[in-house]
Order: sequence, then C-alpha cells, then structure tokens
Amino acid sequence: MKSKGKAGSLGGSSSCLWRSFGSKVGLPAVFLLCSFFFLTGLFGSLLLSQDVVSGVRPTPRRLESMDEGAEFDPLPHGETGERSLTSIPFQILSWKPRAVYFPNFATVEQCQSIIKMAKAHLAPSTLALREGETAENTKGIRTSSGMFISASEDKTGILELIEEKIARATMIPRSHGEAFNILRYEIGQRYNSHYDAFNPAEYGPQKSQRIASFLLYLSSVEEGGETMFPFENGLNLDANYDYRKCVGLKVKPRRGDGLLFYSLFPNGTIDSASIHGSCPVILGEKWVATKWIRDEQDD
Ligand SMILES: *[C@@H]1O[C@H](CO)[C@@H](O)[C@H](O)[C@H]1NC(C)=O
Repeated sequence: MKSKGKAGSLGGSSSCLWRSFGSKVGLPAVFLLCSFFFLTGLFGSLLLSQDVVSGVRPTPRRLESMDEGAEFDPLPHGETGERSLTSIPFQILSWKPRAVYFPNFATVEQCQSIIKMAKAHLAPSTLALREGETAENTKGIRTSSGMFISASEDKTGILELIEEKIARATMIPRSHGEAFNILRYEIGQRYNSHYDAFNPAEYGPQKSQRIASFLLYLSSVEEGGETMFPFENGLNLDANYDYRKCVGLKVKPRRGDGLLFYSLFPNGTIDSASIHGSCPVILGEKWVATKWIRDEQDD
C-alpha cells in the first residue's frame, strides 16, 4: 500500500477510497490514511514538477553568463593562439573604403601617457615628395607636428600593448607595422586629402606598400579635426575635387577610440576611396597615434 501511495497523488487517493469500502477500519483512520497518501502524492508531484522546471532554467542562465564571457569554454587552440575569448567591439563605418571603428580601444590613462611622452619631441610633420615637389611648394598640405617612436622605445610599455592589440584586431603581425607616428594638430592645422599608399606611377618603385592605417585618437576635439574620406562610396568624384575641402564621410576624434582603414584592395591595387585627410581643428587640440601597416615586414 505504501509503495502504491508513493506512485502519485491520484493513484494514492483513489486506492484509499476504494479500500475504505471493503475493510472494517474506522472512518477517522481511513480519513487520516487517505489524507497522508494524498499529501505524499501531492508533495511528490510538486517535487517532480520542480525538477522539470529547474531542468529548463539553466538555459537562459547559461546565455547570460556567455554574455559576460565567464563560463564559455575556450576552444582548443594552437601553440600561438590564445587561451580565452576576448571581445574588441567594432563598427564598420564603410566598405568603400574599408573603414572600421573601435570604440574604447585604449584607456584614458594610456592616451594621456602617450601625449606626455610625445610632447617633448615634436617636430613639424613632413611629406613624402613626388617629382617636382619641394618642402617649399608643398607647404600648407600638412601642418601638424609629430614624432616617430617604436613600441620598444616606449619605456612605459603602453605602445607595446597598443601595438599588440592592433595586431590582434587586424591579424597582421606587429612586424608589418611602421613605428608609431604621434601627431598633434593645433587650431587651424590640417592634412589635405591624400593616400597613405604610394602609387609607383607617382612615387617610383616601392620596396613594400602600405596596406592599412590604424589611427588611435588620443584626444577628443571640441570642433573640427575630423578624419574625412571625401570619396566614400563614390562621393565627390564628379567635379574637380578640392583636396583642401572637408567633405565626405567625417569621423570625429574621440579619445581612446581607434579607426582602421585599408588603402589596398585584397588584390593589392590602391583603393581610390581610401583617400583621406584631416579637417582643420576649429576648437581644441587633436592628438593621434598613427600606425601604418605594410604588406611586408618593416625594418
Ligand atoms: C582589384 O580589385 C578591385 C576591387 O575589387 C577591382 O575594382 C579592380 O578591378 C581589381 N584590379 C585588378 C587589376 O584586378
């Protein structure tokens, strides 16, 4: 009888009723027994249904923890791979040119430290000159000040961290990057639209070519100073484009954010939409760390 009663609430109570007719047991005892089995059955079924519920619940819980990256099992990885999942958020700003934005790529402290380090070594920025061009007749095209520093020269180790993160975001090894060019644009300073890649037709044969550029904005600029892509998605191609104009897709510098764009198509030819410039700073000061990335190791 006990084992029957445990089978379930309905079975327990119905067998109690059935037996109460055939036996001589007093009514109060039958009532107590029936109540006992009824409650046992009810309790058992509650336990069972809770089991079912708790069997279902872990799914959303697991989804939540996946968002935090805490409980997700890392994949087996190769010797040069990484142990864990990381996330570097990004937004594609354009496919023409291929431009992608990385919010909060570096911390405020890292940016401040790079600026402090660069400040003491600034010199007027220079240009790679084409035939017929001189420092004198190209004056005004690029008016910023800057300095070059390789990650290994930075004793704070910050550029090392930034360089490594750039390599991870682009999957282009660090050895393909030129030294950082840290630039400062003061009010009115600019960089007319230009290509980072060197067209051999204009600059002569190249030992290696710049594939991509990564700009890390070290300061926010109150007004002006945008990185602009005047030919984005075929814009401004029609008329005689004035290379000093600040038009097209404009990216407002925000401290700690990164901008990556590709100068070459996958087939190695120059993407004409990768032409870009720096709008004049109107209010504030623009600081940027530039990393040019090449198709071959840089030495
Ligand atoms: C290279 O790729 C671009 C973009 O896909 C294409 O427009 C261009 O014609 C290609 N050039 C050559 C030489 O294959």
